[in-house]
This record gives sequence, structure tokens and C-alpha cells, in this order.
Amino acid sequence: MKVILSAVLALSISCSAFVQSPVFTHATGLQKDIFSVNAYTDGDSGINGVVDLSLKSNVSKQNLPPSELPNGGRISMVGSGPGDPDLLTMAAHKILADPDALVVSDRLVSKEILDLIQGEIKIARKAPGCADSAQEEIYRWCKEGIDAGKHVIRLKIGDPFVFGRGGEEVLKFRGYGVEPKVIPGVSSAFSAPLLGSIPVTHRGVSNQVVMCTGYGRDGTSPDLIQYHKEQTIVFLMAVGRLRQLCERLIAMAGYPSKTPVGIIQNAGCPNQRTVVGNMETIADLAEKYQVAAPSVIVVGEVVNVLLEEDTATGEQVVGLIQNMTAVDA
Ligand SMILES: C[S@@+](CC[C@H](N)C(=O)[O-])C[C@H]1O[C@@H](n2cnc3c(N)ncnc32)[C@H](O)[C@@H]1O
Repeated sequence: MKVILSAVLALSISCSAFVQSPVFTHATGLQKDIFSVNAYTDGDSGINGVVDLSLKSNVSKQNLPPSELPNGGRISMVGSGPGDPDLLTMAAHKILADPDALVVSDRLVSKEILDLIQGEIKIARKAPGCADSAQEEIYRWCKEGIDAGKHVIRLKIGDPFVFGRGGEEVLKFRGYGVEPKVIPGVSSAFSAPLLGSIPVTHRGVSNQVVMCTGYGRDGTSPDLIQYHKEQTIVFLMAVGRLRQLCERLIAMAGYPSKTPVGIIQNAGCPNQRTVVGNMETIADLAEKYQVAAPSVIVVGEVVNVLLEEDTATGEQVVGLIQNMTAVDA
């Protein structure tokens, strides 16, 4: 019943634009398990949210393993956000303070967040070229931890399910006989542009966002999305092939060479910086300012929305930008 109530409340929130006078009624009589939410009628459209519990027999149940082994071993997969401890969720903050936990952390989790950890820490050695062996080492550490009856915290950058093998890890842990608890994190895909003062959508400028990796499986280049003027693309894991990426976007995906590009490096960390240019200039600028991972690349007109214009030339500022002020153009 609790689940249904949440569903009704979720429906209520998503339809709040239509709500005129919220009234929840529990319909009794003909079908005892129907909640009728009369408040979702907006008069004209006649939207009426009804959740029919008689459908529940059609809902498949997964045979998931228990969340704890008989010896007490368990796994929490936790998103650490982009790097600033203030952007951790309350749940992540609380869990990291467990002094008995074994934390198995991604290499890119910030020092400021690692400093909050009270228990033992093991940090993945995922450097370019040895990602698979490092991943095996992560699995081994997690398995050893739960076999020893520990609470293993698998600490991942950003959100665990965005380009971080989070789903693969859940499947692996299920194979170890335990269902991990997964705690979302603030993904760099959206927070890095914001922290670099780039709104990923903006009315009249961009009405859609595509999130994409620069590297597909086994180092391949993922297929490119064709140019659309009112679209933003956010690339993760792509600075290593920025020049090639821009060339391909122009040659194969119809991108005008003057399309603005912004790169936000170390978003949310004390050494955050932003480099701005366009499809033609950004690779040289990135080389000049030695842009490195972790960085998020934003492609689209939104890059310029909040950018200052150079007071002398009246032109859009390009180059290295900090706090909306060019420090060295
Ligand atoms: C393996 S992916 C993991 C993404 C992560 N799960 C997320 O939701 O942010 C790693 C990539 O995330 C991006 N990234 C993560 N943290 C970042 C940060 N603080 N600043 C800029 N980019 C970041 C970079 O593109 C980096 O190469």
C-alpha cells in the first residue's frame, strides 16, 4: 500500500501544473484497491490519475539476492558527486562516516571527499590502458570485504549509473550473492556545466541535451549525433580525443565550425577551470592551457548564454575563464 501511495504522490507532483484543488480520495466499493486522484483533472484536458492495484499481479518480481550476507557482509554503492563535499547527498555523507566500513574508491574521487572517510580506504589504480585489470582489482577488494563480513562502500565519482560501470558492478555483486544498496550522486554531466556557468538548456537556445562518451567500448568512437541548432551535447571522457572529436563533428555530423565549445575541468574542486572557444579553436586552446581529465566538454550555443562579452571589443570572451572573467584570453 505504501508503494502505491508513493506512486500517487509522484503522479501528483508531476501533474502539479494541472492541479486546481488537490483532493485525494480512496475509492471504496466496486474495486477495493483503486486510488482515485480527482485533483488531476484540469477541466479542459480531463486528466485523471488513477492507479489500479488490480494490475499488480502483472508486475514481475525479480529474484534478487539479499542485501546482506549471513556473515553481515554488504555493499553500498555511493555516488560522490563531482568533487566538492558540499555536493554529496546527506545519505552519502552519513555512510562515509561509518568507521567500520571498507571504502573502495574510484581514483578520481576528490581528496576533500576522501578526507571525510572514517574507515579503511582502497583506491582504484585505474590509469589509461589498465582499466580492465584495475576493475578486476576493485572486484577482488569488494569480494574480500564482504567475505570478511564487512560493510563495503564502493565510492564512485558523480552518479554511479552514469558512465561508470555502475550497472556492471551491480550485476557482479549479485553474482557474489548480495544486492548492493545504490545511492545516487550529482553527475558531472549536469553539474560541471552549471559550475562552469553553462546552463545545459535555455529557452530559445537549447531544448534538448545529449550525454555522450568520447570513448566507446574497447577505445572505439561512439556514433555522433547529427547537428541540431537547439541541442546541447555534453561529452564525458573525451578530452583525450578533443581535436579528432571536433573534426568528426564538423565533417560527419554537420556542425558549423563556429559552434561554441566549453570545457570544465575539475568541476567543484578548488582547481576548477573553464576553457571556452569554438569547434575550430578549442583543441588548440585546450593544448595551450593543458586541459586534462577529468573534464566535461559542452558543445552548443548554450556555452555563450551567460558568458561576458569583452568590454573592449564587444566580442564573446574566449580562452581560460574563471568565475565568468577571462584571466588570460
Ligand atoms: C568514468 S566517467 C564517470 C562519470 C560519473 N559517473 C558522473 O556521473 O559524473 C568519468 C568522467 O566524468 C567526468 N567528470 C567526473 N568528475 C568530474 C569533474 N569533477 N569535473 C569535470 N569532469 C568530471 C569526466 O568527463 C571524466 O572523464
